[in-house]
Amino acid sequence: MSDQGGRRALIVGDVIDDIIVVPQGPIRPDTDTTASITRHPGGSAGNTAAWLGWLGAPVDVVGRVAASDVERHAAAFRALGATPHLQADPERPTGTIVIVVGDETRTMLTDRGANARLDAAAIDDALLGAAGVLHLTGYSLFDAFTLDDLAALTARARAAGVTVTFDPGSTGFIADYGLERFRQALAHVDVLLPNLDEGRLLSGRDDRDAVADALLEHCPAVVLTGGRASVLVARRGEQAVEVPVHAQRAVDPTGAGDAFTAGLIDALLRDATLVEAAAAGVRCAGSAVMQAGGRPPVAVGR
Ligand SMILES: Nc1ncnc2c1ncn2[C@@H]1O[C@H](COP(=O)(O)OP(=O)(O)OP(=O)(O)O)[C@@H](O)[C@H]1O
Ligand SMILES: [Mg+2]
Repeated sequence: MSDQGGRRALIVGDVIDDIIVVPQGPIRPDTDTTASITRHPGGSAGNTAAWLGWLGAPVDVVGRVAASDVERHAAAFRALGATPHLQADPERPTGTIVIVVGDETRTMLTDRGANARLDAAAIDDALLGAAGVLHLTGYSLFDAFTLDDLAALTARARAAGVTVTFDPGSTGFIADYGLERFRQALAHVDVLLPNLDEGRLLSGRDDRDAVADALLEHCPAVVLTGGRASVLVARRGEQAVEVPVHAQRAVDPTGAGDAFTAGLIDALLRDATLVEAAAAGVRCAGSAVMQAGGRPPVAVGR
């Protein structure tokens, strides 16, 4: 990685209201079912920025929410030490995911709301100029950014010496978007951060080493996570390295990937190697799986 000395993380993408529904017993159609319903700030980019703030990293987060929710979401970021730059959508509601938790299942109903209108061109040069790492996710490609928008934003980042990291985000969205088109996006990425399922889908391969090799044809570095399995760090022209994971009985795996990304970016900002950064990602994700929800607890006294 190039020297990022003193530079900030710039996280661009989804900011969401997660509504978690835990019904007391089977859902009864056409009548009431008592449930516990809680609301938490979420979204992949929002969660990564929150964990970066929790780690003490200098971090800017760019997202888009309903105009009436800007202050609420901005306050949640500030409480964790992340600096919000939220676009106010005058029409669309804040993106919302209703997560219905069953015994063995999690059913997610997604309304991307204002996230679909996130404006990449509105990200100003001062933010890019202060950044060492720009992190994007596949969710933005689904509706907010065209491939040209992505190319333009990442070209501006590269011109400013910024490393571009990218989390594909979700196999379902990749499939909906179209594999070929999604692969074109990877040409704009320095470090790709898929989980194994996303890696398999994107590469068309099954074996983990083969997945990494195939993805390296698109971008110069790939960090493949696999839940409680070890992480594979692969760079073009180098031997791939496995980073061990200390598997835990997760309290809640929501946001593990986002916390992993935060740990990795924090380390890259401190000039760690990619293998060292993956190990830092594992440590941060290890904290995330031991607590409920996708974001870290707010530190007392902040
Ligand atoms: N049970 C676990 N114990 C310890 N660490 C875990 C566990 N599950 C996940 N992790 C950590 O989180 C990282 C990311 O997990 P995973 O590969 O499941 O990401 P993901 O599928 O992108 O998750 P998300 O659902 O947040 O998108 C793993 O590489 C690992 O470091
Ligand atoms: Mg993920």
